[in-house]
Amino acid sequence: MKTRLFKIKPSRPSASLIQAAARVLRAGGLVAFPTETVYGLGADALSSAAVLRIFRAKGRPADNPLIVHIADADDLHRLAAHVPETALKLVRRFWPGPLTIVLTKTDLVPKAVTAGLDTVAIRMPAHPVALALIRASGLPIAAPSANSSGKPSPTSAKHVLEDLEGRIGILLDGGPTRIGIESTVVDLTTRVPQILRPGKISAAQIRRCIGPVRSPKRSPRVKNPRSPGMKYRHYAPKARLILVEGSKPIVVRRIQSLIREHAGLSIAVLTTNRRRVYPGAHTVFIGSSANAIARHLFRVLREMDEHGVSLVLSEGVHVAGFGAAVMNRLRKAAENGGATDTSKHWKNSVKRR
Ligand code: TXA
Ligand code: MG
Repeated sequence: MKTRLFKIKPSRPSASLIQAAARVLRAGGLVAFPTETVYGLGADALSSAAVLRIFRAKGRPADNPLIVHIADADDLHRLAAHVPETALKLVRRFWPGPLTIVLTKTDLVPKAVTAGLDTVAIRMPAHPVALALIRASGLPIAAPSANSSGKPSPTSAKHVLEDLEGRIGILLDGGPTRIGIESTVVDLTTRVPQILRPGKISAAQIRRCIGPVRSPKRSPRVKNPRSPGMKYRHYAPKARLILVEGSKPIVVRRIQSLIREHAGLSIAVLTTNRRRVYPGAHTVFIGSSANAIARHLFRVLREMDEHGVSLVLSEGVHVAGFGAAVMNRLRKAAENGGATDTSKHWKNSVKRR
């Protein structure tokens, strides 16, 4: 299959391009499109056959469910068997926007979408292209991030092509995405709502809207996660990535000593301080605010591979607010999951190939 790439203006999406993409969706095909978070790989959420094509194109494990995207909040009632007051409050406050809610599903939603679960994840994206496409198709659109499974989520059309060229019908190129990491996922089917994946909408914002909420466990690789996607190592560049957390002076010294230990390798260091330079490594400034880091992180991880870097050392990020979500992604990309400790672990993790 040849992938047709179309540039589309987010401020004024061309109606004929949107119609062409909507036709592909209605015929059961795949369309990649921009959202405010990352690019999505869309298919008709009501068709098992169409949804299975998503899993095949991405090489996604069959037990990892998809998010269903809608453009009209009333569609919640077709997809969810029960819409609690908490859902209505969150929808009024944060939709369209980077918040996904998990509810009990209706029979309309095929098990292929939910990977056999009786719950469904739903979101309304805040992007004019995504909204126009959903409306024109007249369908709820199942869409995971448009990367091959295990790679960083795509924040530009170039990333989508790298992973999926020839596997999708149409790619709508709306330029780089604004937020850069995926939506917050909150499960509203438990007695106390639970954040399954941190994102731009923070736990504190959700609490202010609906009261008590459980935050995700720190460990990125829990054994029996409620959100199946959270158990996989994600976002990983081919290079080994080691995340160094702790107070700044300790982090800097630890990174300097790791550089010395691995002299001879092609090393990059991701720093959050514009003026910091690490001799012996290629220093890459990834932004000093959580917003900036989020916007650039997945692109930078992909560039590490393009540049043939074999070891990436990353400083940790302040975990307040949105920083918590950025750290979550860094920890999942890192082979050490962000362990701060000690020489034994470092040596093992760097030697293992
Ligand atoms: O920002 C985003 O959410 C992007 C854009 C394209 O909308 N989409 C995205 O989809 O990141 P994906 O498939 O890459 O991540 C969906 C996450 C996974 O961690 C999955 O396990 C979880 O949502 N999820 C989906 N349905 C679920 C359900 N019924 N219960 C629990 N977790 C669910
Ligand atoms: Mg994904």
